[in-house]
Amino acid sequence: MERLDKIVASTGRWSRREVKNLVRQGRVVVNGRQALSPEEKVDPDRTEIRLDGEPIIYARCTYVMLHKPAGVLTATEDSRQKTVLDLLPTAWRKKGLAPVGRLDKDAEGLLLLTDDGELTHRLLSPKYHVDKIYYARVGADLEPSDVEAFAAGMTLDDGLICRPAGLEILSERECLVTLQEGKFHQVKRMLAFRGKPVTYLKRLAMGPLQLDEGLAPGEYRLLTETETELLKSEVGHLLPERQKKL
Ligand code: URA
Repeated sequence: MERLDKIVASTGRWSRREVKNLVRQGRVVVNGRQALSPEEKVDPDRTEIRLDGEPIIYARCTYVMLHKPAGVLTATEDSRQKTVLDLLPTAWRKKGLAPVGRLDKDAEGLLLLTDDGELTHRLLSPKYHVDKIYYARVGADLEPSDVEAFAAGMTLDDGLICRPAGLEILSERECLVTLQEGKFHQVKRMLAFRGKPVTYLKRLAMGPLQLDEGLAPGEYRLLTETETELLKSEVGHLLPERQKKL
């Protein structure tokens, strides 16, 4: 049994405080009758919950979008340095959230954190071809030959084999890089190999999930139900009947 406000808030669309008000306004309906109180305990598997008539699906796992700021480690703990988990509320940290992939200490942007191990595995596996899109500023002028080299795939001086990747030149020293893999420092290494050292790096998207530009660096929010479903759908981790509705 779970508290009603917890179930409704798990969708990421309203905070617990907002859910309390929605219940008081009589907008939450439990098995066809108006909810009595936000603290009411219900069995999420056997209870039909609706808000303004829309069904509410309980999110057992937690999915958090963080706008990672520069200067923070992508790790769950570190004895000396601040980690991305230190930016989240303690209650969430206790859930066992872990980052999905790494962003370098000096890199910024979209970082997903979740306790859904299967989704993490799928999003990171090259088998599922999830695009990660990065914005980069570089220290030398980009050229069309760089675009071709990225598209062809490249083997770096140190032997690292990089699969074909996207490079879109935005201006002489700004570009978008699209990768389906995530090897250590990969964007920086690929651009450095082309003689274009990265001076600034920000992840903008992971599959269908885009960084919410309303989040300042260091800010975070829960994913909405739609975002979670799109993400799961991208890697075939959604029940077929939910898949059809997207
Ligand atoms: N590539 C990099 O070089 N750094 C990151 O943080 C992510 C991708």
